[in-house]
Amino acid sequence: MHLTSLWNFSRAELAAYIERALTLKAEAKAGARHQMLAGKVIGLVFEKPSTRTRVSFEAAMYALGGQVIYLPGRDTQLARNEPLKDMARVMSRYIHGLVVRTYGQEIVEELARYATVPVINALTDLHHPCQILSDIMTVVEKRGPMANLKVAWVGDGNNMANSWIQAACRLGFALTLACPEGYDPDAAILKAAQAEAVKPITLVRDPREAVREAQVINADVWASMGQEAEAEARIRVFQPYQVNSALLRQADPEAIVLHCLPAHRGEEITDEVLEGPQSAAWDQAENKMHIHKAILERHLL
Ligand code: CP
Ligand code: NVA
Repeated sequence: MHLTSLWNFSRAELAAYIERALTLKAEAKAGARHQMLAGKVIGLVFEKPSTRTRVSFEAAMYALGGQVIYLPGRDTQLARNEPLKDMARVMSRYIHGLVVRTYGQEIVEELARYATVPVINALTDLHHPCQILSDIMTVVEKRGPMANLKVAWVGDGNNMANSWIQAACRLGFALTLACPEGYDPDAAILKAAQAEAVKPITLVRDPREAVREAQVINADVWASMGQEAEAEARIRVFQPYQVNSALLRQADPEAIVLHCLPAHRGEEITDEVLEGPQSAAWDQAENKMHIHKAILERHLL
């Protein structure tokens, strides 16, 4: 079974990843040594840079007794236009799963169509599903069940925003996104989620409106990987969308701030907020490893 986006999973299935990750985290802290993936090997095919996702997937695989092969896209024959369907089928003969970070969502979907082993999306231009699972794990740890919470997204309607929208629909929590005009999340994803959602998923322009009464506030870079040429222009457009202490004062006083990192201090978030008492970014980064253990166990066994 593949994990290309959160859309194909039920509420119970998504909740099961979180529960399992919390258990694996507690067991690891208690000194347990797991071996359930002994004899299994995954390939990490990364066509974009990564610090956290790569290392946390590698650490997770080793922590469960498995092994990894890191495959920067440029070092494979993909860089010389080998068809994805050939790559998918050949890899499936060698290894037990493919974790892929790339540009188009269609690349991950094509690999999944032809691979006979699980394909896991480690970020595309459209989605970042594993990240949102670790973000939600962090919220559950700190604030309890998602269904009772209001979540705000402030900034670009990017891959992270799209996966948050799908999570809000499936897990049944309220989500308000504040994005500048022209930087909305994917229209089809938003429409499909709003049609099925049990709690409101709302797109607004005013960041203060989005964070009002929110217990969770999300920030992310204004220019994602692949948008470097737009970075300067985006800084001007996104200035009013900075997560700073003035904005935080509009939210629930107990609100936590999430940032998937890497962060650009002074742009989408201030140093004061990222380093402040309401920031959950460091636990959130740690939880990527625990959620990746739960994902690898579920998909590889
Ligand atoms: N949050 C995240 O995906 O970070 P990396 O780009 O470092 O993997
Ligand atoms: N939206 C960001 C997330 C980085 C983890 C990007 O795609 O670059």
